[in-house]
Amino acid sequence: MCGIVGAVAERNIANILLEGLKRLEYRGYDSAGLTVIRDGELHRERQVGKVQALVDAVAINPEFFDGHIGIAHTRWATHGEPAQRNAHPHVSGKIAVVHNGIVENYAELKEELIAKGYEFTSQTDTEVVAHLINDLYKQTPDLLEAVRAVIPLLHGAFALGIVHVDSPEELITVRLGSPLVIGVGIGENFIASDQLALLPVTNRFMYLEEGDIAKLTRNSIQIFADGVEVSRKIHEIDAQQHNADKGEFKHYMLKEIYEQPDAVARTLEMAIDSTNTSKLRDDFLQRHEDKLSGIRNIQILACGTSYHAGMVAKYWFENLTRLPCSVEVASEFRYRNPVVVDNSLVICISQSGETADTLSALRDTQKQKPTGLVSLALCNVATSSLVRETDIYLPTLAGPEIGVASTKAFTTQLVALMLLVLKVGATQQRMDSERLGTLLSELQQLPGQLYASLHLDAAIKTMSESFEDKKSCLFLGRGLQFPIALEGALKLKEISYIHAEGYAAGELKHGPLALVDKDMPIVVLAPKDSMFDKLKANMQEVHARHGELFVFASESSKMVAEDRMHVVYVPDVCETLAPVVYSIPVQLLSYHVAVMRGTDVDQPRNLAKSVTVE
Ligand code: M6R
Repeated sequence: MCGIVGAVAERNIANILLEGLKRLEYRGYDSAGLTVIRDGELHRERQVGKVQALVDAVAINPEFFDGHIGIAHTRWATHGEPAQRNAHPHVSGKIAVVHNGIVENYAELKEELIAKGYEFTSQTDTEVVAHLINDLYKQTPDLLEAVRAVIPLLHGAFALGIVHVDSPEELITVRLGSPLVIGVGIGENFIASDQLALLPVTNRFMYLEEGDIAKLTRNSIQIFADGVEVSRKIHEIDAQQHNADKGEFKHYMLKEIYEQPDAVARTLEMAIDSTNTSKLRDDFLQRHEDKLSGIRNIQILACGTSYHAGMVAKYWFENLTRLPCSVEVASEFRYRNPVVVDNSLVICISQSGETADTLSALRDTQKQKPTGLVSLALCNVATSSLVRETDIYLPTLAGPEIGVASTKAFTTQLVALMLLVLKVGATQQRMDSERLGTLLSELQQLPGQLYASLHLDAAIKTMSESFEDKKSCLFLGRGLQFPIALEGALKLKEISYIHAEGYAAGELKHGPLALVDKDMPIVVLAPKDSMFDKLKANMQEVHARHGELFVFASESSKMVAEDRMHVVYVPDVCETLAPVVYSIPVQLLSYHVAVMRGTDVDQPRNLAKSVTVE
């Protein structure tokens, strides 16, 4: 979604802003812009398309952008098409504004402003904010005060960066429902939607709370909550660990696929005792044992790939602990007045921890105040809103995930969820130590099995050639592989733009079999598990109707390729953990198909990495 960068410094800041925008590209966007104050004027440049187009435009007259204070933005269109006039910053008089989020009541505010004589040049909700600040500044010529007066008039969730030509030393920022961090420098200060944008200039960050308004100058940072000045802690981070570049890989997505053995190993280390590997570490979620011992029901809330991880966890929770578990997409849950039963553990799964639907669904469960409610964030970003708003934080240690298509976040979510199942099972004595020991030992084989499955890359690349000109595709799985079929279909459609559906293979004859013909590739996840024989029967149904099968099967399955049936052998893995390993082939398949079709793999069209609007 939209990305904000801002800076106030002694040095020229245009390159800091542009580099910051490049580092936010992963969030997804369709236009970019910046404004720098120079010689008492706002110098603005905006371009549709990539940040590079903005860099090139700025390079035509770089001297215009030699300034010490400025704001920049990548826009993901919500109100108004991707067009130069809709790109940020938006300007009203001497004020420039960048905005992430949505102003829900912008239409009525716009009417009032038009009646006052303000002219609108864009279709955005943001322009309303610029004009409102301008209007209030006329009565209160103090930028901070004017912004403070505007905030209560705006409904919605947003983050803002604001500058005024008459206050060339002041950068004002607001966080209300959309992420924003302050980067603390020496004689210079910065703002951004994600600290990643500012790592070239600082490793010291302040995380604003919801509702905070801050005034940054070169040498000071003042933060206000409810009109009162407050202090926020400075966090020093290890920039090396948080930095992310593509290394020798062509795309972030491929790099992130290859990082999975290490990311899974790190996530396991957090919970498994290295001195006795058949035991969970004593300190793993130890201080939450009281809360976990009281839960009688699990409710999982998530979106997209994170939802698929939740679907796998449902099988695990119910099968291994016999605790009832429901899983629902957060965007539906939040609007259907759901019942949250007493003593529920509400697990919110999110890579970013900023997904608006997941956050709202969490807040809805909290508003109901059921007895014994325990909320848990399973999240890859320790400083996110989701982590702040939940009782328990269970991290995934995937490291920064830049590709819009989630890969290593998914497999680490699965592993962390299994660790949670084991913890709940052990705490509530729903699992004996033998079962626990067996699963822990199987978990520890995962990094090696993931590593071995990466060796399938070349074979899958060859397989992917058959998909290049296809229009539609089915992914089939049964039991624990059904969520992986859904995940495979999501990956393929989001990065290759081929229509794809995931189905529980037993459902084929209830409808989708009608789609099957020689032009429809059908990907099947076929580990040799308790559903294997049933799945083989489903494959026969397809084969008999001239469908072309692309099967990922266990080495031990003894499946052989034949006419219209291609087989890639996946390393043998226990049935319970097979979803983790079978994620790799579907990720690699989607990746290679997308590369072959020439799409923008890391930033697919219309999508954002972190979906901070509903
Ligand atoms: O950050 P989150 O895990 O909450 O994001 C949820 C979805 O937006 C995300 O998983 C999305 O579906 C991915 N692009 C899929 O690859």
